[in-house]
Amino acid sequence: MAAPNFRAPKGTRDIFPPESTRLRALIDEFAVVAARSGFGEVISPIFEDLGVFRRLGESTDVVTKEMFDFFDKGTPPQRLALRPELTASICRAYAEHRPVPPWKVWYEGPQFRYEQPQAGRYRQFTQVGVEVLGTDDPQADVDVIVLAAGFFESLGLRQVELALNSLGSSGHQGSRVAYEQALRSYLVAHANDLSAQSQVTLERNPLRVLDSKRSQDREVIAGAPVMVDYLDAESAAHFSAVRAGLEAVGVAYEISPRLVRGLDYYTRTTFEFAAPGLTGAQNAVGGGGRFDGLVEALGGPATAGIGFALGVDRILLACDAEGVFDTPFCGVDVFVVDVTGGTEALKVCTDLRQAGIAADRGYGGRSMKAQMKLANRSGADFAVIIGEDELRSGEVTLRHLGDGTQQRVARAALVNQLGKKRAL
Ligand code: HAM
Repeated sequence: MAAPNFRAPKGTRDIFPPESTRLRALIDEFAVVAARSGFGEVISPIFEDLGVFRRLGESTDVVTKEMFDFFDKGTPPQRLALRPELTASICRAYAEHRPVPPWKVWYEGPQFRYEQPQAGRYRQFTQVGVEVLGTDDPQADVDVIVLAAGFFESLGLRQVELALNSLGSSGHQGSRVAYEQALRSYLVAHANDLSAQSQVTLERNPLRVLDSKRSQDREVIAGAPVMVDYLDAESAAHFSAVRAGLEAVGVAYEISPRLVRGLDYYTRTTFEFAAPGLTGAQNAVGGGGRFDGLVEALGGPATAGIGFALGVDRILLACDAEGVFDTPFCGVDVFVVDVTGGTEALKVCTDLRQAGIAADRGYGGRSMKAQMKLANRSGADFAVIIGEDELRSGEVTLRHLGDGTQQRVARAALVNQLGKKRAL
């Protein structure tokens, strides 16, 4: 029987160096930026009870079509799902542990959505994000938006655009009810011009129709009533405070009255970051907003919340498009070539690594020529060469791989000397 020809599952990728090093560097940069604003990292499970994610909205694609769910082996079996995002998990954790508010957390990690893969859209992708739980102060909204904008800037991105909207407050008294009624009446009156899919969506949730990217729906959507005209007094005041805050710190934004976002939990502030360098529908590099009812929906106390998540894979594509955040060098400083059996390479590498100098070596007792080839490929600045002659005299040959110059160095002085050269 022929050996099976396994490949990474559809919509997933193997990420190798140097791209993996770049992805890690981006997450590290986010960690620095988040910590500078007083956020602590939360590491939550990659899977949760499916019910946690149902709260994202029974009419959202994420819940109806894109969940990776499964039963565990318990009795009775529990229905679990790989997380499609982290806001629901963070709210579940808040409801479970009741930390002291305001709770400011950041996170990073893989998310899973059973989507149709295309450029910038994967079934497993990485997000970084923050959430602030336990305050409805509009300045918290401003703080998180400024954090995201500052992060993009720290990567060197200059073209990311911020779209801002308010979805008003939900619940029976909320402004959303009046708006949804107006929107529904309008869409019903224009139903014949909508795509078949949007006609179905309209039955379940008229707001979701505004999310449609289908060209057939564009004209109807363009004429639809907008939420900002229906805001209740408190939501309107909240929205103007957010705008005033952004203006106070000089963060540019565009009001986008039809921005509804793809998840149902949003109230009041919603926003999205787009990278115009990425063509097509996949140019959203991040988004977020308020989710003031989500903790309660997950069994916790009434708790306001605001946050965002950014798509790491797409941000890296945006960096490519703008030619910024270069792929980092991920080789070593020194490559040790040992033609005396390998034990010297072992000892020299250990000493160098202990001194904080990145060192590598070849295996398998290969020829000088073969090992020098590896050294040149390693990206190292220096090769440390050890032959029988060097071994006898207690020395090594230190060769600069760039210009080919070399010198003999006492073995005992090597670490010191390389440390000095590296500092230059
Ligand atoms: P989201 O808009 O669903 O929001 O996702 C945020 C970002 O994740 C998107 O803007 C995009 O960059 C990236 N993303 C989403 N799906 C994919 C995919 N299939 N492939 C690649 N990248 C993707 C949320 O997830 C909310 N939890 C954000 C939030 C936090 N709201 C409040 N707090």
